[in-house]
Amino acid sequence: MKILGISGSPRKGQNCEKMIAAALEIAKERGFETDTVFLSNEEIAPCKVCGACIEKASCVIEDSMEEVYEKMKAADGIIVASPVYMGNYPAQLKALFDRSVLLRRNNLHLKTKLEPLSQLEAQETEVRKKPFSQSMTGCIFTA
Ligand SMILES: Cc1cc2nc3c(=O)[nH]c(=O)nc-3n(C[C@H](O)[C@H](O)[C@H](O)COP(=O)(O)O)c2cc1C
Repeated sequence: MKILGISGSPRKGQNCEKMIAAALEIAKERGFETDTVFLSNEEIAPCKVCGACIEKASCVIEDSMEEVYEKMKAADGIIVASPVYMGNYPAQLKALFDRSVLLRRNNLHLKTKLEPLSQLEAQETEVRKKPFSQSMTGCIFTA
């Protein structure tokens, strides 16, 4: 079983990355394989709504998302840590969520993923009203 930890913060080595590292450490101790996506290291452009992924299981934009798709598909569970920016999650993370539409359009790849700790840093009720499971349609929301 593999757990993917996604940090949605553009800041390196800060709260979200530390929380993902701590959560994955526990997962490792419990026998899970782990992998990470830290958005501080990645460039993910917003979805252009070109519709190409309706016809074909690939995205026309060539950026970090190509590797992120593979990591999301390979994971059995996904943990997301997000900062709160103006009562919402940051644009960088929204870009990742929007681009994950490719996985929804192609076999609902995320439908079997457990998302057990989706809001490690939900400082604000507005964010609690927007569970990440809504953003990545098909995830099973267990928090
Ligand atoms: C542009 C901006 C907007 C923010 N807005 C909020 C907010 O609305 N509510 C809140 O509780 N914290 C807010 N914060 C604080 C961050 O959510 C907080 O510092 C978070 O821990 C940063 O995560 P990181 O250390 O992983 O980057 C904001 C920070 C920034 C930079």
